[in-house]
Amino acid sequence: MKKVEVIYTPALLPLYDLKDKTVVVIDILRATSTMCVAFNTGVNKILPIASPEECLIFKDFDFIISAERNAVKVPGFDMGNSPFEYENPFLAGKNIAFTTTNGTKAIKMAKAMFPHRILIGSFLNISALAERIITLDKEVVLLCSGWKDKYNIEDTVFAGAVIHKLLEVYEMADDASFSAHSLFRQYQDNLEDLVRLSSHAKRFTSLNVQTDDVAFCLQQDIYNFVPELEGEFIVK
Ligand code: MLT
Repeated sequence: MKKVEVIYTPALLPLYDLKDKTVVVIDILRATSTMCVAFNTGVNKILPIASPEECLIFKDFDFIISAERNAVKVPGFDMGNSPFEYENPFLAGKNIAFTTTNGTKAIKMAKAMFPHRILIGSFLNISALAERIITLDKEVVLLCSGWKDKYNIEDTVFAGAVIHKLLEVYEMADDASFSAHSLFRQYQDNLEDLVRLSSHAKRFTSLNVQTDDVAFCLQQDIYNFVPELEGEFIVK
């Protein structure tokens, strides 16, 4: 059987080989969830960018520029990283230059390691993601974006949820994947209780974020598509 691995944060990437593997980038709160919402709204393509400074350049090239740092929108940019912002029909047909604290960095780092493909994973499209992984029939790496290179709960439990959907076709490669799956099995019936205990959910509360991004990002299977990286851009 082919193997599925889990990488808890991008800082661990040098310990792994991504060559010719299907890599799923995971940032449940909120980058990969938000990207799925954007494509459902009709966004044309998303350019993941490492820094706000670089992202700002694209304002002059007919891009919507989106930047989040430390869970809040960076001043001077069009949009932040709440999924609710990306339900705006004005975005249909637009191109977005996008930089977030963790998610877009993980995508850029994975891209440099010769993966077969990079897929965008979230609870919102989890079943379509599992089907796509099985169809591609490659070894799989589930790359958690974490928080500033530290472990986080929400990305890890999602990785466990994906593994749960793959187990008839894939086997867990290592302790990281086994632990992620165990976390999911323990909390699969009350994911929201678990994720609300996460440091990032608490960060939203302390920042008095006006929308319930946690509840939104934990909805399962509201989209049946899997965004993926084509060249420099993420497309639907
Ligand atoms: C990120 O995308 O880096 C993080 O999820 C930050 C956020 O959106 O709050």
